[in-house]
Amino acid sequence: MVVRVETKDDLAVVTIDNPPVNAASQAVRAGLLAAIAETEANTTAKAVILCAEGRTFTAGADVREFDKQPMPPHLPDVIQAIEDTTKPWIAALHGSVLGGGLEIALGCSHRVALRSTRFGLPEVTLGLIPGAGGTVRLPRLIDPLEALNMVTSGKPISAATALNLGLIDDIADGDVMACAIALARKTANARTRTALRHRDAKPVEDPAAWEAAKTRIISKARGALAPVAAARAVQTALDLPADQAQIQEREAFLTLKSDPQSAALRYIFFAERSASKLPELKGVEPHQLTSIGVIGGGTMGAGIAAACLLAGLPVTLAERDEAARSAGQLRITAILENSRKRGLIDQGKLDALTAALSTTTTFEALTETDLIIEAVFEDMDVKTQVLQELDKHIRRDAILASNTSYLDINAMAARTKHPERVIGLHFFSPAHIMKLVEVIIPDEAAPSVVAAGFALARKLGKIAVPASVCDGFIGNRIMSAYRRECEYMVEDGALPWDVDRAMRDFGFPMGVFEMQDLAGLDIRWAKRKSQAATRDPAQRYVHIADKLCEARRFGRKTGQGWYDYAGGKTTPSQWVENLVLAESARKKIARTPISDAEIVQRILSTMQAEAQALLTEGIARRPEGIDVVMVNGYGFPRWCGGPMFLKNHPSVD
Ligand code: COA
Repeated sequence: MVVRVETKDDLAVVTIDNPPVNAASQAVRAGLLAAIAETEANTTAKAVILCAEGRTFTAGADVREFDKQPMPPHLPDVIQAIEDTTKPWIAALHGSVLGGGLEIALGCSHRVALRSTRFGLPEVTLGLIPGAGGTVRLPRLIDPLEALNMVTSGKPISAATALNLGLIDDIADGDVMACAIALARKTANARTRTALRHRDAKPVEDPAAWEAAKTRIISKARGALAPVAAARAVQTALDLPADQAQIQEREAFLTLKSDPQSAALRYIFFAERSASKLPELKGVEPHQLTSIGVIGGGTMGAGIAAACLLAGLPVTLAERDEAARSAGQLRITAILENSRKRGLIDQGKLDALTAALSTTTTFEALTETDLIIEAVFEDMDVKTQVLQELDKHIRRDAILASNTSYLDINAMAARTKHPERVIGLHFFSPAHIMKLVEVIIPDEAAPSVVAAGFALARKLGKIAVPASVCDGFIGNRIMSAYRRECEYMVEDGALPWDVDRAMRDFGFPMGVFEMQDLAGLDIRWAKRKSQAATRDPAQRYVHIADKLCEARRFGRKTGQGWYDYAGGKTTPSQWVENLVLAESARKKIARTPISDAEIVQRILSTMQAEAQALLTEGIARRPEGIDVVMVNGYGFPRWCGGPMFLKNHPSVD
């Protein structure tokens, strides 16, 4: 039974039991309707407690049903039936009360929750808006501005915030059922609270802040439909009576559900969860991970160390000398302190995490560590030397991971004593924030070592995508290919800002040239110079970036790059334009204008061709993995699904 009803003294307890996340599937909806009928008819029960089995209360609609014909009973009707009961319904909440789960809780008369519970309306992340009264009931319960933020951002809030906002009635520190029962005893017999559907919306306290928030949401959407529709729905919920607003909400939900953007977002949701599931690792027990070593306390190493600490893993940071050790330690504690300032951890937790960090200048301190990640300078010899040195000190069963973005980990592993214990973990910067990790699987790696790489990623709350060894793995290799294509376009007729504008209009947060200016042009220049001797002379080569570097235009940090940054403003550079025109002329290229649509098409085709090559070579396992990498690591607009999704669904673009 996915929904069961039990009578406990003078209370009825309705339990949803639909693992893994108690999604509000058709069976759950039907079960709830039956439970309503049963509890209304039950003359002993004076109040009803609604709860769920397992790790969470209902985490939303069953997303897999969205591709099928909708099946009654529909969630809005079920929630309305809960709201219309004669008895109080107390939602006893835990886990992730999301989407339809929160909408069900809003239909109840009271809500109590475990302190660890999170509440959210994440529908926008799936290209949708709440479709069962969420946009209508929420601003009738909490400040409309807070409701607007929740509905349009999709971001969850904590139980403490929910209590502050008036979203829940109480927090339980130990037993949520005991808390719900106590409340039920107080409220038993009659439903005295007015159902949210029959209340007026709360007033907007600050109309200017309200309008500003809506404007910000629309401008941040960059082409995504759902956040804009979500803002509109909350406005409608304030302007119209609840029943009418809910009809409009449902219509908007159904329209969005059949839009290609939502199909793309649903695809990427499941792709993120399936990307790390490798058939060959089924049943493989990963190495135990109870402590982590990080070599190098620069930006990357500090971010990785902080991510591990925040996930509850003690970290030993090793640096080459005292000054670097102390700087690395400072970087890590600054990240942790920032997490405290942002309310992600409290002072007690900060103290505990700081105590879980030890720092050293010798590798002897790593003899008992389970997995050591080197995050030193991106140079084959430097990294290999570090791994070889670690070989002398660490346990035989410890794992060595290299955080490299391009290098040949097969060659690196071959120069260590035990290649089978070497893997690559390509983190993205800042590593404590970016969700993506490419798990690079060298040819000799033992399955339990690879499984440990994925287990670590999961523990860190990251999305892990497997890749085999090649220059740049999945993401950087595709990125190199399309950056090259963008440079060809600049020689052929576009200007850098034309390319950037087309990319931004397509949905990237920034264009490829702006991004280079932000990252600094000098590192790639050094790499190009080191590869100059081995470069295929027959391959087309664009010299413009080299000439920028020769003129010391390294990007934002030098005030000039592809753009000028004088006075804190970003402006297209006449100097760069002259250089571009001169280079085209020098190569006798007849420049012809390239439209924004053609720019985007050339970028997409290049990405897709490189992605296909990665699949053919076996570097990437599945197209889904490639899309997950491009969406989570390279700013590819999520609502377009990724380059491979677009190849099969061109209507999204
Ligand atoms: N519908 C259908 N399946 C769902 C689901 C949903 N709403 N939410 C999660 N699942 C599935 C996942 O695909 C995964 O399946 P798998 O084991 O076959 O890969 C499984 O449930 C566990 O989910 P996962 O995300 O791996 O677990 P978690 O503990 O890390 O996170 C949640 C749990 C609930 C926080 C997370 O799954 C989530 O955010 N779900 C989506 C919630 C949502 O968007 N609801 C609104 C829908 S309109």
